[in-house]
Amino acid sequence: MINHFPVMLNEVLESIPINCKIVVDWTLGHWWHSRAILEKFPSIKKLFGFDLDPNILEETKNRLKDLEDKIEFIWSSYVDIPKFLWGQKADFVLLDLWVNMEHFKDWERGFSLNYNSKLDMRFDNKNGKSAYDIINDYSEQELIRIFVDYAEFSIPKAQEIARIMVRERKNKKIETTFELKNLLNQVGLGQKASTVIFQAIRIETNKEIDNLKLMLDQLPNVLSDWWRCGIITFHSLEDRIVKNYFKDLSKSGLFELVYKKAIPANYQEVLKNRASRSAKYRVIEKIFIKD
Ligand SMILES: C[S@@+](CC[C@H](N)C(=O)[O-])C[C@H]1O[C@@H](n2cnc3c(N)ncnc32)[C@H](O)[C@@H]1O
Repeated sequence: MINHFPVMLNEVLESIPINCKIVVDWTLGHWWHSRAILEKFPSIKKLFGFDLDPNILEETKNRLKDLEDKIEFIWSSYVDIPKFLWGQKADFVLLDLWVNMEHFKDWERGFSLNYNSKLDMRFDNKNGKSAYDIINDYSEQELIRIFVDYAEFSIPKAQEIARIMVRERKNKKIETTFELKNLLNQVGLGQKASTVIFQAIRIETNKEIDNLKLMLDQLPNVLSDWWRCGIITFHSLEDRIVKNYFKDLSKSGLFELVYKKAIPANYQEVLKNRASRSAKYRVIEKIFIKD
């Protein structure tokens, strides 16, 4: 049973331009946002739905069968968007970052430190380096970079964690989530700090920050003259990148922030779904200039 709540659904629906025809849901996940968007806006002719996770995409295809005429399901990173739009331009694009809660429940994939399993953590579990490869093959310096940049740990603490990992893996490869958790306990990290390290390794495994930057760079090229783009983030690092990028775009005079500041999830939503407490929604639009 899927028990996933769409984050900030009302705010997303309110930010969509009326009469929009082509929409891109860059992180289709478990369909909730896309279904609601298509039901509320019958003017939409096509929704391009991307997801990197083949299992989630398969399930979502089945759940959206009744709307399949309007949806192009794409198993690919949102970074590859220009290849799939066939020259068309989108009127609204949505990016709902972070993991799907189902990733944590699918314990065999190694996203959660609460279940013992192999270290994988890839959204696309058929391609690319896994968390195991990163933990066992990256140099000490690379590990320090991950813990400083993505976990925002101090350099001395990051060095201590990386040192013990490199020392341990010389004797035996670090293979499971519990082995990693025990190692983090040895350097004094409790549940909360260990979760942040797991998160940082997941961000590196899926190149989440690099992908976000690549995607933002091509944003103005894939969007129509009327477009809006909405981005939901859950991590201060991601939010900072989006905030600065939107600010720079708006300085050109061709784009405008729809909300001056990021909107958080409202109180009722946070009560219902604790995961939404760190969500922030930012929207930008292109200003239409008549010749
Ligand atoms: C927070 S969930 C989206 C939830 C969705 N809005 C819903 O209503 O169910 C984020 C999704 O993005 C996918 N994802 C992560 N990185 C991606 C990437 N680079 N390209 C495409 N999908 C990605 C994940 O597999 C996950 O299913």
